[in-house]
Amino acid sequence: MRIGSLTLKSNLFLSPLAGYTNLPFRLTLREVGGLDLATTDLVNARSLLEKKRKALKLIETRPEDSPLAVQLFGAVPEEMRDAAAYLESIGIAAVDINMGCPVKKVCRVGGGSAMMTELDKTSALVKGMVNAVKIPVTAKMRLGWDDDNLTAPDLARALEDAGVAAIFVHGRTREQGFSGSVKLHGIRAVVQAVKSIPVIGNGDVTTPEAAKMMFEETGCAGVSIGRGAFYNPWIFRHTKHFLETGELPPEPEFDERVRVMCRHLDLMVEVFGEELGCRMFRKVAPWYSKRFGPANEFNKKVVLLNTRAEFHALLEMYRDWRRQFLDETGKLKPGYRPAPMVASFMQEPGVAQREQIPVPKGPVEVW
Ligand SMILES: Cc1cc2nc3c(=O)[nH]c(=O)nc-3n(C[C@H](O)[C@H](O)[C@H](O)COP(=O)(O)O)c2cc1C
Repeated sequence: MRIGSLTLKSNLFLSPLAGYTNLPFRLTLREVGGLDLATTDLVNARSLLEKKRKALKLIETRPEDSPLAVQLFGAVPEEMRDAAAYLESIGIAAVDINMGCPVKKVCRVGGGSAMMTELDKTSALVKGMVNAVKIPVTAKMRLGWDDDNLTAPDLARALEDAGVAAIFVHGRTREQGFSGSVKLHGIRAVVQAVKSIPVIGNGDVTTPEAAKMMFEETGCAGVSIGRGAFYNPWIFRHTKHFLETGELPPEPEFDERVRVMCRHLDLMVEVFGEELGCRMFRKVAPWYSKRFGPANEFNKKVVLLNTRAEFHALLEMYRDWRRQFLDETGKLKPGYRPAPMVASFMQEPGVAQREQIPVPKGPVEVW
């Protein structure tokens, strides 16, 4: 798979998730495998140029975290151009532009999804960036503002003319937020609108089968996964294997989930220090535990986490508590196994809708 001058080992991508797609998470996913180009959380172009501490922390990386794309947001053409040039100068592999974010703070200044509504202005901004760097510039968008304004195909075509190397598209409108189902036909319309650049589909992919369906129904060149990687850091490796061989690897066992969760915490502590790393992990660990079976005892205590030692003590306590739900072979008894994940666009009509993938609470609730 190619994006501009980059040749990638996987056509599966990590979607930016503000507050989550930090260096420890990316390294954890890369170690598990199947992922090549990953991206940072969105970064304010101006803050980056001003070398604000928070912005620099967001782009922190290591050689084993490559290839890496940084997602920028902003609406001032010169700032976006200079930020892209700076990222190229420090060895970042690609720059992604956020055109999907519906958060007021971002749209008010003409960034995020406000960019979808102003084709000419957006094209000019993108041209300025593309001309300033050799690395690929990509764009991430939603299908449009609302169902009456499905602007993504027009925008994608205009951006291709402006020199964008790939389009990432979340198959929902801004108005939809995270509700309703991802519209594969909306992604297909974007695939059909561009001449030759790759379009990468995104939204609700939580299983290898869902990724396959997105490829087949939309003709997209790649699939980008966000929340699915929270539950299942194996999703890239398993999907790659499934697409290449047709075999579906079994879901990881509890011990393997715990091993990867502990590695993730170790990396959080390495990158953010023990106090902050543990505090940040309070919202990460409950995603792992969603696939543990009964986990109230774990969830109740992990939100108070302060040290790595506490975490390991909690895990020991939880293992003991969890034994009551296991059969003699050490597997969860049938009534306690988590239900299989099903993407919104794979729900069978007439069958009661399964719970949607939750959106983490906080200011980013409506991404
Ligand atoms: C907590 C959270 C933070 C997000 N942050 C960003 C972001 O910084 N930039 C962006 O383009 N999209 C962001 N998104 C949108 C995701 O990249 C993705 O398009 C969306 O979650 C749908 O994909 P998924 O169902 O695989 O998660 C965010 C989504 C969530 C839930």
